[in-house]
This record gives sequence, structure tokens and C-alpha cells, in this order.
Amino acid sequence: MCGIIGYVGRQPAAPILLGGLRRLEYRGYDSAGLALQAPSGRLTAIRAVGKVMHLTAKVTAELAGTPEVAAPVGIAHTRWATHGAPTEPNAHPHFSGDRRLCLVHNGIIENYRAIRARLEAKGHAFVSETDTEALARLIGEHYQGDLRKAVGQALAQVEGAYGIAVIAVDEPGVMVVARKGSPLVLGLGEGETLVASDAAALVAHTRRVIYLDDGDIAVVTADRVDIRDRHDVVREREVAELGLDPGAVEKGGYAHFMLKEIHEQPESVRNALRGRLDAEHGTAVLAGMGTSARELAEIQRIILVGCGTSLHAGQVGEFAFEDWADLNAEVQPAAEFRYRNPLVGSRDLVLAVSQSGETADTLAAVREAKVKGALVLGVVNVVGSTIARETGQGVFIHAGPEISVASTKAFTGQVAVLLLMALRLGRGRRLSLERGRAVAAELARLPELIGQVLAQNDAIAAVAGRMATAEHAYFLGRGPMHPVALEGALKLKEISYVHAEGYHAAEMKHGPIALLTPGTPVIVLANRSPQWDKVWSNAEECKARGARIIAVVSAGQVGGEQADERIVIPDCDPLVATIPAAVALQLLAYHVARLRGCSIDQPRNLAKSVTVE
Ligand code: AGP
Repeated sequence: MCGIIGYVGRQPAAPILLGGLRRLEYRGYDSAGLALQAPSGRLTAIRAVGKVMHLTAKVTAELAGTPEVAAPVGIAHTRWATHGAPTEPNAHPHFSGDRRLCLVHNGIIENYRAIRARLEAKGHAFVSETDTEALARLIGEHYQGDLRKAVGQALAQVEGAYGIAVIAVDEPGVMVVARKGSPLVLGLGEGETLVASDAAALVAHTRRVIYLDDGDIAVVTADRVDIRDRHDVVREREVAELGLDPGAVEKGGYAHFMLKEIHEQPESVRNALRGRLDAEHGTAVLAGMGTSARELAEIQRIILVGCGTSLHAGQVGEFAFEDWADLNAEVQPAAEFRYRNPLVGSRDLVLAVSQSGETADTLAAVREAKVKGALVLGVVNVVGSTIARETGQGVFIHAGPEISVASTKAFTGQVAVLLLMALRLGRGRRLSLERGRAVAAELARLPELIGQVLAQNDAIAAVAGRMATAEHAYFLGRGPMHPVALEGALKLKEISYVHAEGYHAAEMKHGPIALLTPGTPVIVLANRSPQWDKVWSNAEECKARGARIIAVVSAGQVGGEQADERIVIPDCDPLVATIPAAVALQLLAYHVARLRGCSIDQPRNLAKSVTVE
């Protein structure tokens, strides 16, 4: 998704902006640009298609020998194209008609066509295909020397989502920022203030941050921040302390962020469990669930909503809530939930599962669930994210920054938290002390179980080597391993571009088996489980048609010897086994993508956080 970084201070802004864009690269983008403001107020904009390194080269060349090298104010942006192709004219920043102000924008102006038509009727000659330019020109129409006022007047006419930073020739040293539906965070430095769409871009400069709320408009200078809320009331927003460690957003010696994050999972899952397992009472302690034990006891149904990998995590959670908590649970793609006029009420608990906490469809599902009166909790990674703040309560997964577009540690963190929630709700219902203690003990093993899978990295890489040239692959599972099969297929397709499909193992014979040709890799999640024999029968049906069976099996398990390849995961509770199994499939996908020479951390066409519908 797009990234924003802005700077108002006393240092040259250009290197700070470019460094911030580099820290935002992981979000996925296809062009970039910046605007610098000289002390006189003069604005200079430079844009480039492609990577930040291209913009950097262009900035260096064009600023050489000019006063802008020392310009102490600027805004910058990485663009993930939504309206208009990734071209230089479409790259941000965009200017008002008189070029007296410019802005960078995250989000979508949904009524931009009507705005553009009105402005064109007044003589505006647009130079881009973007919705952002319409906003820049609209602000320019309202500007009469008070930038904050002009921004407020223009935004009052806008429908959609935005996070913007605006600077104007006539107000040197002043930046106006505003957000609605697209995150913005202010960084408070010594004699300098920054703004960014993601705190990761700020850690190199400050750890003191202010997360803006939807509707906020802030006037930012080197030494002051004045915030007004959606009702134009002056607000003192809380100053938070960033826990992000600059090293955490670096690769730490790994070839890719994805590999680093795969190997972080013993620690990230340990963080998800930390302080939340009560072995003695065989339950979980989840302060973030906020609601009273009675309120939780009155829940009659759980609805899990999310997108992509987070949806798959929710699908694993569904089994846990049914098996451990005797609760009716269902999973709905957030994009479906938000528009189907969901049958949801006060007896329902809606769990919004999201790594970024900014996914537009999941955020909209949260808002719809709240309107319907459901109890809404978040299962989110990014603290301060919109979903985290709009649900108001929930359980953070504490996975740390997930830089790779392909989600790995967030998935296992989400599943771990959902298993904790199921344990907690189960013990408030029919789950016995003995069973609760057994579940808690299995969950406590997870960091070690994941470590055992990671120790098989080379063996899994060898399996990957024998399937790296395949153009099709199928992942099969039953029960809670069905969503793990879906997730394994998603990992493979999104980073290696191999066509991969996940299926319920029993479904293969109802059509998809027609696709098998000799040598097609079929990855079967054949770990110890009540349905193991059924899964294995499905594997043999595929093998009989020439498929290469890659079986994920439990250590010490008898059976499955006919598999062409075996990936062994530690033996553990079938629900808990979803996490080590997922780690094995993450490594498999990573090594296939590596062997195919793919752009693993920033796959083509993908963005880290999809804040548009
Ligand atoms: C997963 O590898 C993808 N990056 C994508 O499916 C992601 O899970 C989805 O966009 C949801 O994002 P969220 O968890 O931040 O809401």
C-alpha cells in the first residue's frame, strides 16, 4: 500500500524523506516522489517510476548545486496504483491549480470524478489520472492564506479514505496533515516533527509518537503540533512511546525479510503466549478481551472476519472454538460480511483478524458489526492501527513488524491467539480442568515445536528443489489442516507465482483430480489426526494418477510410507499442529521462490496492507 513520510525541521529534508521511503518500501509500491520546501516557501517536486533507488538518483542529480539541497521541509510518498497506471505524472505529490500548494495522499477519494468534473468546468486542466490531484486542486480552490482551513473545507466535500500531508508556498515551515480511514502517525523530535503512514519510518528519528484519529487535522511545525478533531475541537492526543527497534525493520543477516520472519516465529509465538497461559487453572488470561466473564459466557456464536492469510487464521480458529469451547463459530471473508447485511446481534462475538489493522474490508466489517450491536474484538498485530483502535478491545498478537508482504509470523501469531481465546472461552464453558491443562501444556510447547520445524530447513529446501520447476501444485488437508492447506497454497502462489490451489482433501476427487498430470506435486497434510486414514486415502487417489505426494507427517507416525517426499513435524495436538505445519509450508514456499529467483519480499502486484476495497 502507499507510504507517506513528511519532515518539518532544521536538517536537510531530502535524505530524511528518502530514508523514510526506504523503510516503507516493504508495503509494496510502483512509483515514488517527494516535494521540498525552501525557507522562502518555494516548492520543488521530483517523481520517479519504480523503486525508491530510482527516485534517489533523480533527486541527487536534480538538486545538485541548488539551494533545495538544504530545504528543511518536505513530503514524500510511495504509490501503489489505484487510479491510473504507475507513471511519473500519476506519482505523488500532486499540486493545486496555481501550484501554490502540494500534497501526498494515501487512500481513495471515492467521489473524485464529481470533484474533478466540477473543477474542470471551472477551467482546471488535470495533468494526471489520479483521485489525489482532484483533492490537491480542491484544496487550492479553498486556499486563501490559511492552509488548515482550506484543507478542512476541501475534506468536508470528500468521500472516501485519506491520509494526507500538505505544504504551501505561502506558509513556509508549516505542514498540514489529516486522516480518515488511512493511518497517520506523528513523530516528535528535538526541533523537528515528522509524519508517516507507518511508525517503522520514524524509528530512526524518534520514539515519541502521536497516532492521529479519523477526522483529525493537525498543523505541524518544527516545534509544535496543533490537532483538531472532526468537530474542529482542539485535542491533546496521547504521546506514545514506540517499542519498535530500528534493527527490527532490518533483515538481521537473512537473505529476505520473509526468511527472517519465518525464523522469528519461536520468539513471536512466545510473545503471543507470554503471560497469557495459566497452566495451573488450565486456561488463558486475556486482559484484552476486556469484557466480563458473564458477557463472554453469554456469547452464543463467534464470527471471524478477515482477508487473505488472516482469513485462513480465522478458519483455524473456527475449529478451536467449536472443539474446545463448544461454541458455534463461522468464518466470513470480510468483504462479504460487510455487504451481506449480516445476521449479527448482541449475542455474537465478531473477531476481526488482521495483521496490519488497516485492511479496508476488515475495518468495514468491524464497523458494520458494531452497528449491528455485536461484541467486536480485534486480533491484530499493529498497535495503534485503526482496527485495533476502533474495536477498542482485543488481543494483540505481538509478532513485531512484519515487513515481508507475504504474511508468516502474523499468521502463526493470529492462530496462537485464537487458540488462547478458544481455551479461555472453553474453560468458561464445558472444557474440563484436566483438558484445559493439557491444552495449555501443548500451547506452551509451540516455540519449541516451531524450532524443530525450522531445524529441518535444509531438508525442506531439498524438497523444494525437487518441485521448483512445477507450474502447478495442490495442497490438501482436512479439519483444521484444510485452512493450513489454503494458506500453504497462498504462500506458494504469492511469492513463487506457481499456480497453487488448496483443497479439502475429500474434495479432490469431486473434480480437481482431473487436473493431475504425472509428477504434479500434491502436498498432503497427513499429520496425526482422527481423519488421518481418510486423508491418506485421498493422497493415494492422487498418487494413482501420477502425482508426486509430499506428505507432511507427525514424528513417529506410522503410515504414509508410500509418499514420494516426507516433511516431518513434531507430534502434538492436531489443532496445535496447525502452527508447525504452517511453518513447514512457509519454508517450502520460500525455497521454491528462492530457487525460481523471485522477488520474495515484494512480490509483483501485491501490497502489504490493502487499504482499498
Ligand atoms: C498474506 O500473505 C497477504 N499479504 C494478504 O493475504 C494479507 O493476509 C491480507 O491482505 C490481509 O491483511 P491484514 O492481515 O493486514 O488484514
